[in-house]
Amino acid sequence: MDTSVKEIIRRRKSVRTFSGEPISPEDRQKLDEFLKKVDNPFAIPIEFRVLDAKKYGLSSPVIIGTDEYVAAKVSRIPQSEIAYGYSLEKFCLFAVSLGIGTVMLAATISRGAFEKAMDVGDTEVMPVASPIGYPSEKRSVRERLMRKGIKADERLPFDTLFFENSFAQSLSPERAGIFRDALEMTRLAPSAGNKQPCRAVVCENRVHFYEKKAKAMQNNSLGDIQKVDIGIALAHFDLTLQEVGITGRFVVEDPGLETDDQTEYIVTYEVNC
Ligand SMILES: Cc1cc2nc3c(=O)[nH]c(=O)nc-3n(C[C@H](O)[C@H](O)[C@H](O)COP(=O)(O)O)c2cc1C
Repeated sequence: MDTSVKEIIRRRKSVRTFSGEPISPEDRQKLDEFLKKVDNPFAIPIEFRVLDAKKYGLSSPVIIGTDEYVAAKVSRIPQSEIAYGYSLEKFCLFAVSLGIGTVMLAATISRGAFEKAMDVGDTEVMPVASPIGYPSEKRSVRERLMRKGIKADERLPFDTLFFENSFAQSLSPERAGIFRDALEMTRLAPSAGNKQPCRAVVCENRVHFYEKKAKAMQNNSLGDIQKVDIGIALAHFDLTLQEVGITGRFVVEDPGLETDDQTEYIVTYEVNC
């Protein structure tokens, strides 16, 4: 990506209203190339396909002005939703860098048709799909109302989402050290229903990530869609650090911090020494 990751993350907004202009052959080639190599730090392969809505009878009641979608599927294994969110968001940020809009859709798609087009097997899952296309200059009335309803332009404050050493101590941006920008970019991540489930506790050179579960988002047939949100947030975090030359690894080593009943430990990021 030529533009900085932080700039792209700040520019990104979900797009549901498209101009109707087909994706240019140059941009299409760049997207296809990117999809071939998009990876995640969990080494879980994600299979992407670009789908023609007319060919497969795909639809979404919230999308106007494009017939192209990107969908992806993954085997149902531990951490698959996290890996899925990470890889898909990496692709979405690349699309934004080309001026192409996306929006992850879990609920508002003709799911049966999408799963058929993706040949989703019994041991696989396709949590979300996204339209791709050039954004329209104006959002549809429906999209504007929808954004207002879920306060899509707002995010929880930094010190509500992030903590220091334990959940008892809120973290201010000033005290977040080398993680400051990466956590700020994590804060801006998109999430289903804008519920923002990602929490993090910084302990020196380690950041422990947690999922704060919203009742409304649990117990659906798709599995835990908020784990996809966590994967998206981790992509923002990791890509921002990578850009300034900080590398690390994700490990599952629960530090055993005290949490409330809705909060589940997911993974720890450890800076490479
Ligand atoms: C996992 C996931 C699932 C989503 N599902 C839907 C959906 O079914 N329909 C929809 O219109 N938007 C959906 N969204 C988009 C969110 O509503 C949107 O990201 C959030 O409101 C924040 O807005 P922003 O992306 O413009 O920052 C989904 C987002 C994520 C990350």
